[in-house]
Amino acid sequence: MLSGIQPTSASYHLGNYLGALKQWVAMQDAYEVFYFLADLHALTAELPDPAVLTDRSRRAAAQLIAAGVDPERSAIFLQSHVPAHTQLSWVFECLTGFGEGSRMTQFKDKSARGNADRVSVGLFTYPILQAADILIYQAHYVPVGEDQRQHIELTRNLAQRFNNRYGETFVMPDAYITKEAAKILDLQDPTAKMSKSLPDAGTLNLLDDSAVLAKKIKRATTDGETEIRFDPATKPGISNLLAILSAVTDSPIATLEADFAGQGYGGLKNAVADAVVAFTEPFGKRMAEVLADIPELDRVLARGAERARAIADVTVKSVYDRVGFVPAAGR
Ligand code: TRP
Repeated sequence: MLSGIQPTSASYHLGNYLGALKQWVAMQDAYEVFYFLADLHALTAELPDPAVLTDRSRRAAAQLIAAGVDPERSAIFLQSHVPAHTQLSWVFECLTGFGEGSRMTQFKDKSARGNADRVSVGLFTYPILQAADILIYQAHYVPVGEDQRQHIELTRNLAQRFNNRYGETFVMPDAYITKEAAKILDLQDPTAKMSKSLPDAGTLNLLDDSAVLAKKIKRATTDGETEIRFDPATKPGISNLLAILSAVTDSPIATLEADFAGQGYGGLKNAVADAVVAFTEPFGKRMAEVLADIPELDRVLARGAERARAIADVTVKSVYDRVGFVPAAGR
């Protein structure tokens, strides 16, 4: 099992945790897992200041560990520490049609938001690098969100195309989209997914101060009624608060609806704020502990990369041989 997440901000938000990281933690018992920080992908939208990128990457790694990803059981590493990702990506770029790449909806969305001339070629080839990320480990399962389904389809098409042209080489991966993963929406606009690209007032960052989190929750958009009921179509704000409370307390939504029957929106918001803070406070402490020893964190990442390279280098060697590159003598 393999998954990746970009280190594109100083803090992940509750949507990242409940939609991805929580599943990653749960899966390390049942599968051999590889989790990486997609620092190469993190250059595609804008080139961050170098010190900022370095800091975000380490903070992201510390957050995975704070969330419960255990470096003893799981290989945690940085994409840039494993050159095989880009080595394989080139071959896949040459197997991908320009039109095929142009149909990727995430590229279309992201490039539509920016100035067309400034959109990077890296943003265009992003899904091809993602295919290399996955296939290089011969991953069977890739836990991702619904928005990544098309990239996994491309990955499967490239695996199939390579296998047809050069012989069986790649395992065919499946997207692993968990039904249990709670969909967390923006607090201000509860029709949009919680996202770091929306204004901060609607985003519950895992490393936000407790008072800030409570304030954001108290200002969350609700509706003109008074009834606490889970009904995403007509009551998106209240439903989102119930979903958040359900996910962080592990209690079924139906139980919460019964518990809060007859109560006001203020009481629900207080309960959500308390539950979120009860989760984020120890999380922030654990992250700070990990970050207090950067040399040790870097050693953990180096060990993860070593485990990753042991598999990835074998795949690249086999791909390069099959493609017909002359083997370097003595290697
Ligand atoms: N594109 C993924 C996202 O935005 C991140 C990612 C990069 C990834 N490479 C991957 C996810 C490989 C799974 C497998 O969420």
